[in-house]
Amino acid sequence: MSSSNVNHVNLQAANGTLANLNLAKHSFPNGTLTIDNPMDVAASGPTFLMCPPKLYDVDYVINPWMAGNVHQSSRERAAEQWEQLYRAVTQVAQVVLVEPQPGSPDMVFTANAGLARQGVVAISSFFHPERQGEEPHFHRWFREAGYTVRDIPRETPFEGEGDALFEADGSRLWVGHGMRTVESSLHYLAETWNVEVISLRLIDPRFYHLDTCFAPLNGGSVMYFPEAFDAASLAKIEARYPAEKRIVVSEADAVHFACNAVNVGRTIILNQVSRELVLKLEMLGFDVVQVNLSEFLKAGGAAKCLVMRLSEMNVTHAVRHQPATDRTRSSTAGLST
Ligand code: ARG
Repeated sequence: MSSSNVNHVNLQAANGTLANLNLAKHSFPNGTLTIDNPMDVAASGPTFLMCPPKLYDVDYVINPWMAGNVHQSSRERAAEQWEQLYRAVTQVAQVVLVEPQPGSPDMVFTANAGLARQGVVAISSFFHPERQGEEPHFHRWFREAGYTVRDIPRETPFEGEGDALFEADGSRLWVGHGMRTVESSLHYLAETWNVEVISLRLIDPRFYHLDTCFAPLNGGSVMYFPEAFDAASLAKIEARYPAEKRIVVSEADAVHFACNAVNVGRTIILNQVSRELVLKLEMLGFDVVQVNLSEFLKAGGAAKCLVMRLSEMNVTHAVRHQPATDRTRSSTAGLST
């Protein structure tokens, strides 16, 4: 198996700057290794796939966030912010990188590559032609990484982890539809993993992917922005999560992509949000790490969009979740500025 574009960066490498993160094989800074099998890495601990923003830009408009922002992002600032996120993620997980490809500026949002579980990946079939060029790159990466690759037909768009989120205990799959993913693609997911799939209709174009307005969290709670869903979908959420497990996010936090949160064990990594929300999450026992991701908001994405989970849910959340009262909490946000 070729590992030409399969690289694994361990914790020490997080100290390097992005400029040092040369993707060529064997060229990582000290403490970095190149691996042949990301699946083995993902089995050994929480693991995510990221794509350095070397070719990131806002080149077109396929969501309301991009309007007015074409070519308005700074690649230098984007690189700094991505590196901050990378450092935050590598404090709690391993990161595997995929090399960015010319003509695919949104490839940095690896959450949209597909959805992975048990060595099988359902590769996204993008709704917008602007992103369809990413599909063969992600297909190749996962094939070389040893995954069984399932392509979703063009006629039934599906946008991966952007729209499909497993419950933290892996027991069910929540899938957003109505903006990008179409409801008729859901049966492929149910068949692939023999898992209960619950569909949620998205109704606000600002929250065009499920991961922009809904985040199942370790310990069985959910953080969400109710106005992004139709009434029937809200009823499904309320039926599965008792009131005390539902963290309702304000519109002000929602438009700062609060729900676009990376959760690993008891750590939550997200864009900058209100003090009130941070306190709420801390009360539930989470350590909150805020990273300013303003350059990526210009394309309609934040923390969770920039990573794709490769480890199984039970590995990702292997750190036992402790209520806040049982341990000493550090003050907020190591990385916020
Ligand atoms: N510009 C990208 C798009 O509109 C942003 C994707 C954000 N990703 C996500 N998982 N929500 O497709």
